[in-house]
Amino acid sequence: MASDFDELEDLVMADMRKTYSEQVIDHFRHPRNVGVVPDADGYASVTGPCGDTMEIFLKVRGDKIATASFWTDGCGPSIASGSMTTELATGKSVAEAWAVTPKDILNGLGGLPEENEHCALLAADTLHEALKDYVALKKEPWKKGYRQR
Ligand code: FES
Repeated sequence: MASDFDELEDLVMADMRKTYSEQVIDHFRHPRNVGVVPDADGYASVTGPCGDTMEIFLKVRGDKIATASFWTDGCGPSIASGSMTTELATGKSVAEAWAVTPKDILNGLGGLPEENEHCALLAADTLHEALKDYVALKKEPWKKGYRQR
């Protein structure tokens, strides 16, 4: 027999499905690669115009992104976007990860409502800044000591 909680959850899910794809709901409810990676080879924290912040942490082995993880204080679509972005970046070369666009993230998520598309842009911008950090640190590794993360 369904409990009151189950019924409430069904109502919430039905409401979410009116607005978001199954992929968005899945990545929002079960985000992949969440968390801080200490001593990352590439790191960025970007605050979007909406005021939400995303962080991305990269570990690079050879020329490949071995680990990508994220953290955000943003909305559900930003959690889904961070999750999808880290999945898209993992296993790619630095150059291939640089080519990841907001459109790739939106495609991976089966789209976002127009008013949330900037959440995918925030995730792509953060990935690109983390890649820039990786490249800069390769030239001047001593700067890592001045990073907050
Ligand atoms: Fe700010 Fe989604 S509303 S990232």
